[in-house]
Amino acid sequence: MSNWWTYLAFLALAACGLTADQDVLTILRQQSGIGSFTGLLEQDGDLVDILNQGTFSVIVPDDQAMSDFIANNPNITSDANAVRALLQYHIANGTHPSATFGLQPLFVPTLLTDTNYTNVTGGQVVELSTDNSQPAVISGVKAVSRVQEAVSDHRDTYAGVVRKNDLIQWQQDIFYLGGLIHIVDSVLTIPLSFPATITKAGLTDLIALLNKGGWLNPSSPAVTIVNTLSDLTVFAPNSSQFGASFTGWDGLSATDLLSIFKYSISQRNVQYSSEFKNNSKVPTLDGISATMTEVNNGFYVDASHITTRDYITSNGVLQLLDSPLNPNTTNSRPFSGHISSSPSSDGGSGGLSAAAGAGIGIALGVLILGGALIVVLYIRTKRRRRAGMGDVQRLDGESRERVIYHSDADGPPPTYELETKSVVDGGRGGTRTHVFDLQHPPNPPSPLEIDGIERSRINITIEGSPPRHLGFQARY
Ligand SMILES: *[C@@H]1O[C@H](CO)[C@@H](O)[C@H](O)[C@H]1NC(C)=O
Ligand SMILES: *[C@@H]1O[C@H](CO)[C@@H](O)[C@H](O)[C@H]1NC(C)=O
Ligand SMILES: *[C@@H]1O[C@H](CO)[C@@H](O)[C@H](O)[C@H]1NC(C)=O
Ligand SMILES: *[C@@H]1O[C@H](CO)[C@@H](O)[C@H](O)[C@H]1NC(C)=O
Ligand SMILES: *[C@@H]1O[C@H](CO)[C@@H](O)[C@H](O)[C@H]1NC(C)=O
Ligand SMILES: *[C@@H]1O[C@H](CO)[C@@H](O)[C@H](O)[C@H]1NC(C)=O
Ligand SMILES: *[C@@H]1O[C@H](CO)[C@@H](O)[C@H](O)[C@H]1NC(C)=O
Repeated sequence: MSNWWTYLAFLALAACGLTADQDVLTILRQQSGIGSFTGLLEQDGDLVDILNQGTFSVIVPDDQAMSDFIANNPNITSDANAVRALLQYHIANGTHPSATFGLQPLFVPTLLTDTNYTNVTGGQVVELSTDNSQPAVISGVKAVSRVQEAVSDHRDTYAGVVRKNDLIQWQQDIFYLGGLIHIVDSVLTIPLSFPATITKAGLTDLIALLNKGGWLNPSSPAVTIVNTLSDLTVFAPNSSQFGASFTGWDGLSATDLLSIFKYSISQRNVQYSSEFKNNSKVPTLDGISATMTEVNNGFYVDASHITTRDYITSNGVLQLLDSPLNPNTTNSRPFSGHISSSPSSDGGSGGLSAAAGAGIGIALGVLILGGALIVVLYIRTKRRRRAGMGDVQRLDGESRERVIYHSDADGPPPTYELETKSVVDGGRGGTRTHVFDLQHPPNPPSPLEIDGIERSRINITIEGSPPRHLGFQARY
């Protein structure tokens, strides 16, 4: 959790940066260590225009990542379509601060829509998540690209010597005119077809099962289905019980087998884990629906548990189960033992469970973060308006803004108040201390604040039930 707040503070730092109004290439060129990606982007004027006109999160592999990628794909730079697809896949729609990664499953469409690479309506997606609690972008075959830390070792070498003392300073969220830039440590993998994904991911039990069904035969309709249809969700097991030694399908006709195959695939709204819902119907290619159920934070399709989520593929997603689906058992549900072990039947307990408490904490965090984003936009607009006034000390002093954040379309929008204070210690040129407070009126007492000496520390206070208060402060 503490990292989380650090990111929030970075957001605040970025909000105060004077760079947010500049175009994407200007900002990219100011960063060291990403010249390789920037160079490719510069050659694609259309893409640069789109970036400057919309709201995007640009995922930028650093130079080391690019040179590793080019070493493994030496012909890429001579294939203009491939370069373009690669760039497009690194541009996600909307602004997504790294602090929001991993709070909940998040699959964001990118600009990659070329049907040579993807058949996903609205653009191929990236998953914004965390890896060992670091923000990360997950792409094809679950490739992990970690968002770079604020400070990273300079990886350039000179005559074979790593210059350890040169540090590249990167922020996790860099603002440009149209959105945010995240620098990552590896190039994203454009998702592959289902068969290629299963092979690359080493799902050998699943391959054995597909073979049992006769679906690897190039003349099988199954091959056409997975290679040509768009927006598919495949639910399939990769379990030794249902691998090479499985005999449960012996004697079934080709029609029955195909029916099992079609019942394992859903089309249209791709069922990434962000779309999982308790008690929801999953329409299948077999013409009947399976049922998704949530038990103890686990999701089931009919009675099969989803064990590994979200292998993004060129035309959808693969969700791994612990057992195969069957259209004859469409009414089966998770083993009732799972349900009765849920503690919820024990009513009248006094406090919140730890999980519920954490849930509320996160919800509050998201709410406040949403507010913070609005604040960022507000500050940006305000800065633009004031730009001509030559008001050097414009952030000094105090201000109070009202921020309305719509968390729920039905209920009345809660109003948050933003208070900002800015103090210059030791006269002009000294350290400036900025304090941002977001609060839900009526105003609670003044928050705890950082003592005046420490250089970098984040102090967060959330006080009790309403009125609640969150304060943070950045010194730089
Ligand atoms: C890459 O380019 C070289 C030289 O043009 C060619 O010989 C080789 O077959 C290409 N490799 C691939 C995988 O296309
Ligand atoms: C980005 O998302 C918005 C909202 O979903 C949508 O209206 C817009 O068309 C998308 N932009 C691109 C370039 O895909
Ligand atoms: C798809 O690939 C083919 C062959 O490489 C190419 O001719 C075609 O222009 C590509 N389609 C798109 C939309 O880029
Ligand atoms: C799939 O099955 C193979 C063979 O049992 C195993 O090595 C691999 O770890 C499994 N992968 C997943 C993600 O379940
Ligand atoms: C997308 O669908 C078309 C038409 O079905 C097919 O020819 C193409 O190979 C598919 N592309 C991908 C990447 O799956
Ligand atoms: C479903 O049950 C029917 C009747 O018992 C049987 O003939 C058929 O093979 C079963 N289908 C599958 C896919 O197991
Ligand atoms: C899912 O729905 C079932 C049936 O309505 C209910 O018994 C169960 O508690 C729900 N699970 C969760 C996690 O809400």
